[in-house]
Amino acid sequence: MDQPIRLGVVGLGLIWQAVHLPNLRGLRDRYSVTHVCDLSPSLAAATADELPGTVARSTDWLAVCDDPDVDAIMFLTPGDHAPQVLGALRAGKHVLVEKPLCVTVREARDLERAAAASGRVLQVSYMKMYDPIIDQAREAVASIGARRIVRVTVLHPADAPQFEHVNLRRPDDADQATVDADSAYAFGRTGEALPGAPPALRRLYWNPLLGSVSHEMSLLRALGIALPTRFEAARAWPFRLDAPAGEPPCLHGSADLGDGSTLELSWAWLPDYPEYTEEIAIFGTQGRLRLEMPGPYLPAHRAVLHLERATGGIRSSTTYRAGHATGFVREVEAFADSVIDGAPVLSTAAGAAADLACLQQLVAAIAAGNGITIGTEAAA
Ligand SMILES: NC(=O)c1ccc[n+]([C@@H]2O[C@H](COP(=O)([O-])OP(=O)(O)OC[C@H]3O[C@@H](n4cnc5c(N)ncnc54)[C@H](O)[C@@H]3O)[C@@H](O)[C@H]2O)c1
Repeated sequence: MDQPIRLGVVGLGLIWQAVHLPNLRGLRDRYSVTHVCDLSPSLAAATADELPGTVARSTDWLAVCDDPDVDAIMFLTPGDHAPQVLGALRAGKHVLVEKPLCVTVREARDLERAAAASGRVLQVSYMKMYDPIIDQAREAVASIGARRIVRVTVLHPADAPQFEHVNLRRPDDADQATVDADSAYAFGRTGEALPGAPPALRRLYWNPLLGSVSHEMSLLRALGIALPTRFEAARAWPFRLDAPAGEPPCLHGSADLGDGSTLELSWAWLPDYPEYTEEIAIFGTQGRLRLEMPGPYLPAHRAVLHLERATGGIRSSTTYRAGHATGFVREVEAFADSVIDGAPVLSTAAGAAADLACLQQLVAAIAAGNGITIGTEAAA
């Protein structure tokens, strides 16, 4: 393929406007946007008019799948992406899809099979796996002796202050019936993922687990750390099994990683906290490391890795900083490499299935801490 990949984009909200649109401007040799789609017709039209060349616009993602001038589709919509991804693969399109890929392990496996059968690329947008710091961090993880403690901490502020620098377009002409139907579909799948779980636990699985903590699962995998198959203990607070929908709770889970180390996972909803903060600290018998990951909306924020070691009586302390190519830029470059040259995909549907199975175990442990037993699709 000598020409740029002809790209269709479905969902033109925050992540498109704040991240992918500016990044694609720097990748015009690789991509040319030929079709944009949003439930808001005015947003689709305004976006198409501002892009270079002739750009089709639509409000139904099936029109993008049917467009012969589209080679690959970016799905940037909320909700369960399984129906869209399946439709696109069946139409012969390559797919880059925002997390969460889907809600159930069953869907993730179906998509993995559909991608293999179609011969098309399916890449999940777990951008942290593509961060420029990751190779160095993986090496660091392998250099600190036997792992003993893996501590993941996320401090999550409210969303809006994180992108106050983005002049976000959010017209109010999107088809609300479709928004509601998509959201009901996704919530229905949480019942399949967690048989017998009350709504409060299903909501918790949807957000923050699929919405945010799934990134931590993908990051652990990228660092070469196998995900736990169960959590010994977990709790959510403030939280009640009969709580109505509202702000997400804070979470903590402890799990044996099966390699002599323990995972301590903490995720805190702190609406007025000044900055999104994400840290992975790993303590080993010969050293320790601290990896600070950037939030999604500030391209100048870069990952930082602190590594301390003791080898042969010498103690060393080194700090690494990622360059300015963000994980988001790297992931779309990697997608182009896979589409054009067949390079293997790093963030696969199989990886997403592993994340879903692990997060279901976290919900089961929180349920147990609240005195109830629930099923998990993954365990069944
Ligand atoms: N990787 C990250 O760090 C990161 C950060 C933010 C969002 N996301 C993900 O990106 C996706 C979108 O999030 P967002 O914050 O941009 O949401 P958003 O609500 O700002 O934008 C979504 C857009 O999709 C449109 N839309 C909704 N359903 C549609 C449908 N069926 N067909 C066509 N258009 C539809 C909406 O009208 C809206 O314009 C989510 O899956 C979210 O999890 C990822």
